[in-house]
Amino acid sequence: MIRLENVSMIYRTKYGSVKALDKVNLHVKEGEFAVVRGPSGSGKTTMLLSIGGMLQPTEGKVITNKSDIYAISKRQRAMFRAENIGFVFQLFHLVSYLNTIENVLLPVGVGKDKYGRTDAEELLKRLKLSERKFHRPYELSAGERQRTAIARAMLKHPRIILADEPTGNLDPETSDEIISHLAEFHRSGGTVIVVTHGTAVDQYADHIFHLEEGRIKKSV
Ligand SMILES: Nc1ncnc2c1ncn2[C@@H]1O[C@H](COP(=O)(O)OP(=O)(O)OP(=O)(O)O)[C@@H](O)[C@H]1O
Ligand SMILES: [Mg+2]
Repeated sequence: MIRLENVSMIYRTKYGSVKALDKVNLHVKEGEFAVVRGPSGSGKTTMLLSIGGMLQPTEGKVITNKSDIYAISKRQRAMFRAENIGFVFQLFHLVSYLNTIENVLLPVGVGKDKYGRTDAEELLKRLKLSERKFHRPYELSAGERQRTAIARAMLKHPRIILADEPTGNLDPETSDEIISHLAEFHRSGGTVIVVTHGTAVDQYADHIFHLEEGRIKKSV
């Protein structure tokens, strides 16, 4: 389902270049739950963004669903992403001037879309956010914001969810709850890759990849 072949990423800045990924090879099959761990700066976000079609690596191939996602046009890639991938960004990326349900509805395209308000309401119910539907992000707790980000990622019934530190800064119970939503998505057949420092995910993980200085050091 997802395959990285010799993926390297070099960021070029005014101060010099940074090698964030160094010949990474990785394989996650459809329906698997994979965990990525590694110290701060080891390249986890870079890897997830590359998998999600949002950041083209300097070298190597990212193959999702049998297609090389950086060999297709930008437009095709955006379509592919909208149809297949739900992304939970590190630090949530909620839009501050939109309320909860509007944030959840962000991925819905203008005009005709298969998914809409009824789906968002349903998700908010499942994630216990119905009572916070009209709140803005600053009026929500960290866990509620994170659940909103997860609802947004799930809205279009993607096949893959990529989650970057979805439990960062949450207490153990809230963090377990977030993980249980990802686990439920996985149980229903979804593929999950989650970046996390926590160990609550380990019970669900088919694979755990350890990233260090842009290299996969260990995988189980
Ligand atoms: N846009 C960018 N431009 C230049 N360098 C970057 C950029 N984004 C990340 N880096 C560098 O690339 C390396 C990997 O960053 P990345 O964000 O992937 O790490 P991470 O493992 O997600 O860290 P954290 O756990 O702190 O989120 C770091 O050294 C970082 O400074
Ligand atoms: Mg990161």
